[in-house]
Amino acid sequence: MAAKKSDDGIGRVGTLAEPTGMQVWSPNDGHLLDVQNLAVEFRTRDGVAKAINRASFHLDQGESLAILGESGSGKSVTAQAIMGILDSPPGFVTGGQVFFRGVDLLKLPEDQRRMVRGQRIAMIFQDALSALNPVFTVGWQIAEMFRVHKGLNKSDARAEAIRLMERVNIPAAAQRAGNFPHQFSGGMRQRIMIAMALALDPEILIADEPTTALDVTVQAQIMELLGELQAETGMGLILITHDLGVVADVADRINVMYAGRIVEAAEVHDLYAHPAHPYTEGLLESIPRLDQVAGELKAIGGLPPNLTRIPAGCAFNPRCRYAQDICRVDPVPPLVELGGGRSSACHFTHELLAGKLVPAGKLVPAATQVPTATRANRAASEVAAVIEEGIDE
Ligand SMILES: Nc1ncnc2c1ncn2[C@@H]1O[C@H](COP(=O)(O)OP(=O)(O)O)[C@@H](O)[C@H]1O
Ligand code: SF4
Ligand SMILES: [Mg+2]
Repeated sequence: MAAKKSDDGIGRVGTLAEPTGMQVWSPNDGHLLDVQNLAVEFRTRDGVAKAINRASFHLDQGESLAILGESGSGKSVTAQAIMGILDSPPGFVTGGQVFFRGVDLLKLPEDQRRMVRGQRIAMIFQDALSALNPVFTVGWQIAEMFRVHKGLNKSDARAEAIRLMERVNIPAAAQRAGNFPHQFSGGMRQRIMIAMALALDPEILIADEPTTALDVTVQAQIMELLGELQAETGMGLILITHDLGVVADVADRINVMYAGRIVEAAEVHDLYAHPAHPYTEGLLESIPRLDQVAGELKAIGGLPPNLTRIPAGCAFNPRCRYAQDICRVDPVPPLVELGGGRSSACHFTHELLAGKLVPAGKLVPAATQVPTATRANRAASEVAAVIEEGIDE
């Protein structure tokens, strides 16, 4: 196969980067995107906010990864660090690597990074109206992507823009190409943003809460569209959301974030069937279900911590119904691999998965307690203390 050089020096799939010192990459070499120990902090007057704390995850071609967590958990900052659009200062990447096709984006010179941004890795945001230019028609704005980046002439670029508008299911696309952003509904504007993001055939699309401002039916339609486009193009998709219900049908895997850390990572159906972290369990309980009686919905009590003052031990401990003394002291429970692509950062993951974890303070029937020797991964003294406080094995 002939060598094909990308302007940014990062080879596309099946192509060879020119021998400029840039790495040659093929799908067999590793993940499309491989984030390793990413750390980001914001240095503010209020103190240093540890917005991302050693987050590691990956995305493969044709895969959909959801990043889930409440507001302020570090989801958008993760995307901004990957894209190189962090608000800096006050935000700084303080550690880690972001490998895209084997090349660490954090080490790329800004001119090469700019070429990756938008063309190779595209992003859409919650607020489509503010991302679109109010004084140009949407057809012109999409066509501009083809003119500037692909060198198409005016009429070819317009034809491509209309084709894309049709693909994202905008009715009467040829006529509507002449409309301005404010003449579209929120859902249609988000479709236009998706069309613009896809104009340059990105290899990764990051969608940051793309449907949060939309009503439930439109949310589902946009998610379905993203899923279809992802399957058609084979791109990698990162869906950022605070609402697990929205991404369930589209995502393959989910990373759950809390206070700047990944606390659970799993295939979507495993996570739904058996959450391995109490925070995930709480998020699942707060999704409305059709079979649910009104008023039954349980939100997780309390609020996520201020990231300048993260509690010692497990950051979730002040809100966790299962919290024990061990949870309130450092070290932070590490993200432990459980097999089958799952990992969780809780001292009591195995008990939770076995359905034997009971809320702190509740009495545990003595007959169901198991000798401490069977608890392989914790010190016997810790375990004894935990059992006394009411955790069943
Ligand atoms: N521009 C900023 N200035 C100061 N702190 C910020 C800024 N952006 C983000 N942060 C910090 O990073 C944390 C995570 O933010 P973000 O990733 O936007 O949360 P979300 O999960 O809601 O997308 C915030 O709680 C805040 O502490
Ligand atoms: S480590 Fe403790 S506080 Fe944290 S989630 Fe697990 S049980 Fe709850
Ligand atoms: Mg956000």
